[in-house]
Amino acid sequence: MNTAKVAAAKAALNHVIDGSILGVGSGSTADCFVDALGASGIKLQGAVASSVATEMRLKSVGIEVLDLNSTGPLDLYIDGADEANAQLELIKGGGGSLTREKIVAGASNQFICIADNTKRVETLGTFPLPIEVIPMARSFVARELVKLGCDPEYREGAINDNNNVILDCHGFEINEPKALEQTINAIPGVVTVGIFALRSADLLIIGHDDGSVDVDNAG
Ligand code: 5RP
Repeated sequence: MNTAKVAAAKAALNHVIDGSILGVGSGSTADCFVDALGASGIKLQGAVASSVATEMRLKSVGIEVLDLNSTGPLDLYIDGADEANAQLELIKGGGGSLTREKIVAGASNQFICIADNTKRVETLGTFPLPIEVIPMARSFVARELVKLGCDPEYREGAINDNNNVILDCHGFEINEPKALEQTINAIPGVVTVGIFALRSADLLIIGHDDGSVDVDNAG
């Protein structure tokens, strides 16, 4: 058990409203959140999951999983991140669920990011930037990414929930996250890039190893 992740996950429970429909992300911190939610006694109308793994975990703690097409806009989305800067712009997609995560984040009025203290960075880009790609476009997209100045690495054998592949891009120093998000998303064959800057988080809850948390607004 990672005390910092659990602390951030438990702190997020304070923002969850009984009877609401919640968006829930993917990864080990999101898993901590689902476990805490299941034990909390909070009664949701249901949840929208950003991955098949999260869908199964939600069901395992007795939470009904709903289709985003039937819910309308969500009040709140809670998810982890691989990196977060002071503007609450994120790199996500370490687990390969970035497109569904971006969809659910985009459909939510509020996005709370939960993370351990290792995820806070000054400049995004040390974590290899994940990009979800249509399989037949993989080599073409990789060549276009090299032109942008990075070193893309094919995540061998990893087919995600959308049957797409992931390129992990090394060597980007991301000084203008919104611009790079738009540029990469415009490459034909890219489904989405794991930069969450156009829809950044609204609140960042950082957990520490001693069980304490910091709560940051953007800025
Ligand atoms: C999955 C994600 C995760 O939120 C991200 O990889 C963080 O994972 P963890 O909570 O396990 O550190 O974007 O696609």
